[in-house]
Amino acid sequence: MKSGGGRLVAGNWKMHGSLATNRQLLKALVSGLAPLHGAEFAVCAPFPYLAQVATELAGSGIGWGAQTLSEHDAGAFTGEVSGEMLKDFGCTYAIVGHSERRQLNGEGDVLVGSKFVAARRNGLVPILCVGETLEERDRGETEVVVARQLDAVLKLAGVGAFRGAVLAYEPVWAIGTGRTATPAQAQGVHAFIRDRLSRSDAAVAATLTLLYGGSVKPGNAAELFAQPDIDGGLIGGASLVAGDFVAICEAASRG
Ligand code: PGA
Repeated sequence: MKSGGGRLVAGNWKMHGSLATNRQLLKALVSGLAPLHGAEFAVCAPFPYLAQVATELAGSGIGWGAQTLSEHDAGAFTGEVSGEMLKDFGCTYAIVGHSERRQLNGEGDVLVGSKFVAARRNGLVPILCVGETLEERDRGETEVVVARQLDAVLKLAGVGAFRGAVLAYEPVWAIGTGRTATPAQAQGVHAFIRDRLSRSDAAVAATLTLLYGGSVKPGNAAELFAQPDIDGGLIGGASLVAGDFVAICEAASRG
């Protein structure tokens, strides 16, 4: 279990939104989340909208971040965006190693580790995603896969870099599918992750915020967040619907 117990709910908008729809969504979040205490909230927006998000959320207490970043800080890397630039736009967080980037953009464990290091180097809180595919789960390899993904980053970044970091367990088979891991399944993997890190450094493991991601909805959020090692959620589809995201944040702030 995380010491201190602070929860985090982060929205992952993926490649969705427009200036007009974002404005509506952000205004609804600012008013809907204002009365909530006892948890932190954030949205991870596509790069072009970070300036808009920064303007709309300034002073609201809601944080923001990006969905990936370059492993480099500057240079001839056409199309890439550095952690330094994200910092410039007030980002607190950067998602690293989301399964869609692993699968669709060929990001392997070592690159994910380099991105984690780049986030840290630039003062960003990485939200490191790990999780198995359905085939891997069916073969009984969930822990092997999660351990491999975790160990690769640990090896590159060192355990100290995990102090205060955020990890998201996102079983690939539960992302955008409407199929959620049961609270017990998710809790099992979360406990495994915290235990694995605590073998390197128990004090650091106790500072980790462990999010569950994969079809979190207002109807299942409370039960998931009630698990001892689930410290909040990384929310895809439901983060695009203000009422749903606020309801999930309410479940997290209820304690
Ligand atoms: P989902 O996505 O909530 O739509 O399943 C979660 C994620 O990919 O971060």
